[in-house]
Amino acid sequence: MTDLTTGIARAREILSRVKHPVVITGAGMSAECGLPTFRDAKTNNWDTLARQLATAEGFRADPQRVWEWYAGRWQEARRAVPHPGYTALAAWEQRANVRIITQNVDGLHRRSGSSQVVELHGSLNTFFCFEQQHPVEFEGLPDLVPQCPYCESLVRPGVVWFGEMIPEEAQQGAAEAMLQFDALLVVGTSLYVSTPQPYIRFAERRGVPIIEVNPDLALEQPTVGLSGPAGVVLPQILC
Ligand code: OAD
Repeated sequence: MTDLTTGIARAREILSRVKHPVVITGAGMSAECGLPTFRDAKTNNWDTLARQLATAEGFRADPQRVWEWYAGRWQEARRAVPHPGYTALAAWEQRANVRIITQNVDGLHRRSGSSQVVELHGSLNTFFCFEQQHPVEFEGLPDLVPQCPYCESLVRPGVVWFGEMIPEEAQQGAAEAMLQFDALLVVGTSLYVSTPQPYIRFAERRGVPIIEVNPDLALEQPTVGLSGPAGVVLPQILC
């Protein structure tokens, strides 16, 4: 029996009893759907690129470049097909009050049928204007960075950039999810960005079991660490 097999059995046993799980996901959750993560061998220049593509300064300097990059991600996300791990999380709702707190902006959790999803970093599917935050909607995305119909400022994606606050509503949603929880599942995040850290620390302090799924485990001492891909491991621990 391999470590992973033992871990899967243990995680399954824990999760079969929980009623109010919280699931934290990151870019690795969508890797098997063909959406690249930010920090792996192929994208290890993300921290340089992030300044140009994921900050207000980057947008001011070259709005068209930023627009095109996010338009490309929007298209990739629309084309992506959720893997069985997504379906397993959605189906879990039939047995438990599952709350998902995601750093991902691709919308795949909701598309897979999960109903309680907090998007900490916003969404590729929303847009607002740079100057006055007027919400703007599109059928299909224009090639050129568009102007706000109300104030003519440029339109930006509704994602959280570096240096920006997590939206109040998302913070509140996450805090509410953590009011009552009996297990924490951490999937596909490097924890390089500190957004999920307080939730993990809180779970540790409360003595709530923490199960991590990631081929390259990031937590020092999860209750169970499952070193494998989300699309393969989640269906096995949530059945
Ligand atoms: P990262 O790109 O930092 O980390 C991705 C994690 O997914 C790594 O730990 C991988 O080992 C893991 N991973 C890869 N393939 C996987 C698979 N098939 N199954 C499970 N895990 C897998 O992504 P995040 O931690 O989500 O923010 O990054 C957090 C934030 O940093 C993002 O939301 C983004 C980025 O800068 C902004 O753009 C504001």
